[in-house]
Amino acid sequence: MRVVTDNSEPAAQDEIAWLRDQLLRCQRLSTVGTVASGVAHEFNNILTTILNHAKMAQKPNVTPESKDQSLEKIVAASQRAAAIVHGMLGMARGSMRREVTDLCKLVDEALLLAGKDLSKHRVTVEKIYKGPVLAEVVPIQIEQVLLNLLINAKQAMPQGGVIRVEVLENSPLGLAEISVADAGCGMSPGDLGHIFEPFYTTKTPDSDNRGGTGLGLSICRQIIDQHRGRIRVQSALGKGSIFTIKLPAHIESARKAA
Ligand SMILES: Nc1ncnc2c1ncn2[C@@H]1O[C@H](COP(=O)(O)OP(=O)(O)OP(=O)(O)O)[C@@H](O)[C@H]1O
Ligand SMILES: [Mg+2]
Repeated sequence: MRVVTDNSEPAAQDEIAWLRDQLLRCQRLSTVGTVASGVAHEFNNILTTILNHAKMAQKPNVTPESKDQSLEKIVAASQRAAAIVHGMLGMARGSMRREVTDLCKLVDEALLLAGKDLSKHRVTVEKIYKGPVLAEVVPIQIEQVLLNLLINAKQAMPQGGVIRVEVLENSPLGLAEISVADAGCGMSPGDLGHIFEPFYTTKTPDSDNRGGTGLGLSICRQIIDQHRGRIRVQSALGKGSIFTIKLPAHIESARKAA
């Protein structure tokens, strides 16, 4: 009996193994890129806070009280920075520790962080909480998403205006929903198709050289994808935009509400 061996088979398998290895390498590299760009994007804001308070504390005639206050702000901002790095690395490793969290509380925290910036630009916020609305999330990451949406909404209304934030539980679908609506410049259908792409922006950096990297929404989408959620937008040019995040609701809260 003659045994016929197919020489091409081991070669093909070697090639498949090599390609698989290359794919894994590329995935790892793209993860590194995601983490680096995410951290860089969020750190821009935090470093500005740290720098401003450090400068305030250094002023020659500063009172001990306001020096202490500045130092507290610096510590809080640094802790937030550490939590963001931790969250982004966890997301890259796929090992995020989620906690059952009331989304209304996260919106409040994000509003607290964005508050000064919003009022400086004559932007007020209308809150509609139909909650508590529980979901299993990495709190710092959802806070990051909310901050990005709030800052975008503020930037869409350069003359000021109202941002409407709504949090509700859609019990029949088992979803926890947050929407952020503005009455700003809106987007054209052409822009709408690209806004979640990394580096897509229609903005130029502001006077503090902040913003306009086009990374905010792509980071939001990655975070929401990792939470097995969805982020959607409706917009009309010159009228405004509504961004809606839908996350799986925490099951007990869904049952209680049913
Ligand atoms: N609320 C909004 N109203 C109008 N346009 C928006 C709104 N949110 C996002 N956009 C559009 O989507 C683009 C991408 O947004 P994204 O947050 O990813 O980046 P950016 O805001 O331009 O830059 P960065 O977030 O890095 O400061 C924006 O440049 C803008 O054209
Ligand atoms: Mg943005």
